[in-house]
Amino acid sequence: MEILQNYSLRTLNTFGIDAQADWFIPFTSIEDLQLLSRDEYFQECRCITIGEGSNLLFLANFHGIVLHSKILGRQVVAETEETVDMLVGSGVHWDDLVAELVDLALYGVENLSLIPGQVGAAAIQNIGAYGAEVSQVIQEVHTVNRRSGEVRHFSNQECNYSYRHSIFKEPEWADYIVTHVVLRLSKKPTLHLDYADLRERVTAHTAEPTASEVRREVIRIRQEKLPDPKTLGNAGSFFMNPIISSEAFAELLKAHPNAPHYLLEDGRVKVPAGWLIDRCGLKGYRLGHAGVYEKQALVLVNADGEATGQDIARLAEYIQGEVQQRFGIRIEPEVRYIS
Ligand code: EPU
Repeated sequence: MEILQNYSLRTLNTFGIDAQADWFIPFTSIEDLQLLSRDEYFQECRCITIGEGSNLLFLANFHGIVLHSKILGRQVVAETEETVDMLVGSGVHWDDLVAELVDLALYGVENLSLIPGQVGAAAIQNIGAYGAEVSQVIQEVHTVNRRSGEVRHFSNQECNYSYRHSIFKEPEWADYIVTHVVLRLSKKPTLHLDYADLRERVTAHTAEPTASEVRREVIRIRQEKLPDPKTLGNAGSFFMNPIISSEAFAELLKAHPNAPHYLLEDGRVKVPAGWLIDRCGLKGYRLGHAGVYEKQALVLVNADGEATGQDIARLAEYIQGEVQQRFGIRIEPEVRYIS
């Protein structure tokens, strides 16, 4: 196992922030993590695990150990007439997996095409797009406890999934390092086309779309709306879409009868943060090296490639203040701050 000291994380976060880790340890197996769990120094150090850093903001150099999964591979572990269960290494690049599954005509993840990051991070963050969330296809998440070395498998229910959330984001579960994920894919065409823009595009070509056609349209939509981190540093949606009470939504509608929204089952309402920010006139806004993307106000960018984590955080705070003042709604970052 490689153990690297004073390691630049610039290529390991999609904002392209030049932060350094005291220690950087790419692990390739369960045994690597168990070996580390027996090391006293490792036990005492601060430790975080990162995938491809597509949802992280480094506010400073990281004094401690950064773990990075390089567990690769996938294998079928169960199969019925209708479904296939696939065990996948947490270090697999998410979109490579989606491309492979779509090629195999397996359904369930096509709406989640082109989302940056690794399989492990996708399961922790419960990635979602165009009416689908990865938690809908996750059967199990396999982990190793970095202190005890114990292997523990979490069922979907134990993961406690909700919007962009799982148990693994809670501090008391931070010691469980994800090594593998089991996904249950469908052999039968089961499409999620609730998202109007996607439905219109997909059904314009054919009455019976396949996973591959859905993937192609999702990729097109994403490329139109979201900047490629390789050319403009960003972490996708910077804020979560706030969930407000039906009373607060009624107030919002008085001033903005056409406010976009999604009604939730419990009566509350999810309002797009991008729309709130846009209404504050902040699309394309610049604060030092940080900016609001001009085509999608929910995305903050490293505008000139020189931004520090603090620059981005300062812009985020300014935006939160503006949205709070104008709408009385608090928006919270989806991106995880690391200091
Ligand atoms: N909108 C504006 N101005 C903007 C941005 C959005 O008016 O600058 C309006 C749109 O017109 C639309 C609504 O806000 O009516 C929602 O916008 P969009 O459909 O683009 O989706 P979103 O709510 O901004 C969410 C996810 C994305 C995901 C898309 C598609 C969150 C925080 N974001 O964005 O996820 O790709 O839906 O399903 O839930 C990510 O998490 O990194 C991410 C990109």
